[in-house]
Order: sequence, then C-alpha cells, then structure tokens
Amino acid sequence: MSTETRAYQKCINLACSAEYDCSEVYFKCPACGDLLDVKYNWDKIRVPKKLSDFAKRWATRNNRLDFSGVWRFRELLSFCDDRYKVSVGEGQTLLQQNCGLAQELGMEPSSLFLQYEGLNPSGSFKDNGMTAAFSHAQMVNAAASACASTGNTSASMALYAHSCGLKATVFIGEGKIAFGKLSQSMDFGAHTIQVAGDFDDCMKQVQDVCTELNIYLVNSLNPFRLEGQKTIMLRIIEGLGWQVPDWIIVPGGNLGNSSSFGKAFAELKEIGLIDRVPRLAVINARGANTLTELVNDKGLKWNGGKVDNKIADDYFADLDATGYRPDTIASAIEISRPVNLKKCLRALEVCNGVVLDVTDEEILDAKAQVGKYGLGCEPASAATIAGLKYLLANGTVGKDQRVACVLTGHLLKDPNATVNYHSKMAREFSNPPVQVENDLAKIIALMK
Ligand code: F0G
Repeated sequence: MSTETRAYQKCINLACSAEYDCSEVYFKCPACGDLLDVKYNWDKIRVPKKLSDFAKRWATRNNRLDFSGVWRFRELLSFCDDRYKVSVGEGQTLLQQNCGLAQELGMEPSSLFLQYEGLNPSGSFKDNGMTAAFSHAQMVNAAASACASTGNTSASMALYAHSCGLKATVFIGEGKIAFGKLSQSMDFGAHTIQVAGDFDDCMKQVQDVCTELNIYLVNSLNPFRLEGQKTIMLRIIEGLGWQVPDWIIVPGGNLGNSSSFGKAFAELKEIGLIDRVPRLAVINARGANTLTELVNDKGLKWNGGKVDNKIADDYFADLDATGYRPDTIASAIEISRPVNLKKCLRALEVCNGVVLDVTDEEILDAKAQVGKYGLGCEPASAATIAGLKYLLANGTVGKDQRVACVLTGHLLKDPNATVNYHSKMAREFSNPPVQVENDLAKIIALMK
C-alpha cells in the first residue's frame, strides 16, 4: 500500500511498523498499541523546490487555503483532498523579534524571537492542529468529536467542531482549568463533562469513550493533528526570511508540539528543503516534569527507535504506587503521563535536543517579562523564557544564537494568573494598581 498513495499511516514501533491507509481512524496502532505517524511518498507530491516558493501564496490569499497559515504549506501535509479541508483562518501568527527582552536576558538584542501563537482564532497554537484533525474527520465522515483537555484543546476543538457541524464533547479534570478557556468551549456549544480526576485521568477515559462510541478523538494522539502543528516551524522559518534558527524552545505538556516540530525538521531535511535542523529545548514545569526526570535522570532516549520501555513503565508504575499528582500554576502543562513521550524522544534525537524544568515562580516572573515587552502570554508559554534563562546561564545557548520561543497561548486565556501576580504576589516584576483618594491634586501628585 505504502508506495501507491501520497500518504499513509505507520506505527512508530520499529518492531511493528504496521501501515494503514489514511481513511482508517485509529489513535493508536491496532496491532501493537504504539503511536502512529502520517508518512508521505514524497515522489508522489509536488513539493516546491525551495521553501521560499511558498511565499507566492501571499498574493493569492483570497483563496481560503492560501490564507490559512497551515494550508498554504499544504504540500507538506498532503493527506487529504482540498474539499475536506476546514479552515477558520488559523495560523495568522507573528514572529516578533524582541530586542528589549533579549537585552534583559543578556542576549544580543537581535537574537530573540517570540512566535506568538496566541493570535490564532481560539487564542492558542491548538488551531494549527485542529484544522488538520477536523479536515481528516471530514474526510472519514466523522459525526462527533471529543478530547480531554486542560482548556486550550477543548476551546479549539469546540470552535472547529462548530464550524463543520460535528458534535463536540470535552472532558476536563476537577480544579485547575483556566476560566478563559472553559468559557470558550461553553460558548462554542461543546458538551462539557467534568471528571473527578485530573487531566491524565481524563485522557485515559476519553480514549475508551471514543473507542466504545466510535467518536473522533482530537487529542494529540491523533497523528493528523500533529501534521498541522508542523506549520508553526514553517512560519518561524518564513519569519526569519526562510532561514532556520539555532534553537526552538517550547513548553512540554502532552508533548505533541515538540513531537511535531521534530517530525517537521526531519522531513524538511529528508526532502532537501533545509540543510540543517535547529536544536530543540523542551521545558517542563517542575511540578509536572516527567520528561525531564525520564530523560535527564533516568537516561531514557529514542535510541534509533529502540526505546527502553521498561524505564518509562517503571516510572509510571511508581507514580501510580505513590498516588502522584502533577501540580503547577501552568495548568496547561499540568500533565504527568504525556501521551507523545516516544515521539518527543525521537524529536530530541533529530534536533540534538535538551530538556529541563522550571519552577512556578520562574514561570510567572518570565511571563511578566514577556508581558512587559509587548505580547503577553499564558503561564505555560512563559516556561520557554524561564528555560532560556537557564540555557543561557549554563552556556548551552550562546548569547548571539538565534532563538525562537513558541508562545503557545494568549495572555487572556488565564487572566487570574496575571492579576494575582501583579496584585497579590509582590514579585520582581509585579506592577500592582496604586490606590488613591478621589481627589484631583492627590491623583496628579501620584503621576509626577
Ligand atoms: N502550552 C499551552 C498553552 C497548552 O495549552 C499546552 C497543552 C501546551 C503548551 C503543551 O503542549 O501538549 O504539545 O506539549 N494543552 C493541552 C490542552 C494539554 O488540553 O489544552 P504539548
């Protein structure tokens, strides 16, 4: 099957390597239970000769697919016919060169770039993936969709489901879900089910629910969703005048982004559209640092595809035995059983990557610094800047290297975190309101 079609699915487990048509709907390999990839027969796809050829589509952006920041790169995610593609104008995002923040971090002012994915229609990077997943859902004629979420996936799913007439059910855990996000999925008409458990519990339940009720799962286990997220890297390269940066820094939660970024660079290198891959840094919150512990402390690696599964199995058994629950202010990445762990290990190998974790205080300070210089972001996104500080301090990242940090979600997703930082926490970058009597002279005195 694999050489006849443009795209097919393939199990990432080398010992299995089972292949499936793109019309089949799985979120795990039916033969062995491992993750699936979307693979391409590049000789059957008209890939542009150079990446800058994609720039031509700016001139034809009245075509909805050329307007989309995902589908204008469609040859690189060529798994479905144009007629199935669902777009709500995703990917109109910005690569902002942030000289002020670079200087504050002790970097060469021109070196730091922030890829602001908060500009997406639902306010986070998820729309890049959701447009791809829902296009596939249309292709296979799905009637209903579902996801487990810490908030952003659900907001994005609800938006896309609404746009193409699929039912949407969101599974959220108790407690930490930022209100900005929850309000979106309710407003877009999704059926919201709150499970007495955390995200990891919801993630497990939703897989069983989807299997039992034949519902289309849009979490990042879905290999088609990750295809859309590759385009975040293409837009960074585009923003740099079609050059590859030295570093990509991304927060790590369920590890879908890091996985898809690694896949993007491996493919671009394979088809000769780039001549080198950037390095990748994945930043965990300290209170949800499974990847950091597994990679840095336990030595887990992709190892050319021969992953030592026992290391991860023992680690998760330990979490179960101790009843461990992740805990971080960066609720978006409060995940201790990342479903894309293996694909992320592969990305780390492709990109000579590093992993580290940062504390909640470091995340919040970094978030305030991002805000101070313009864009603002939600806590999980600021883990990138908090991580960059460590990487600069220990010399892993050079002060004049070009670094692109992916700001995954909009500031207004989690306004409580911002208000609390500025009004209650009294930290280095807090900027609380000043109280004054209702008196003109006193107000003016304060403003001098
Ligand atoms: N940043 C934000 C703002 C997120 O919402 C998420 C994940 C991540 C980073 C982590 O990305 O999973 O690709 O490593 N949010 C998911 C959700 C879990 O349900 O909204 P990842």
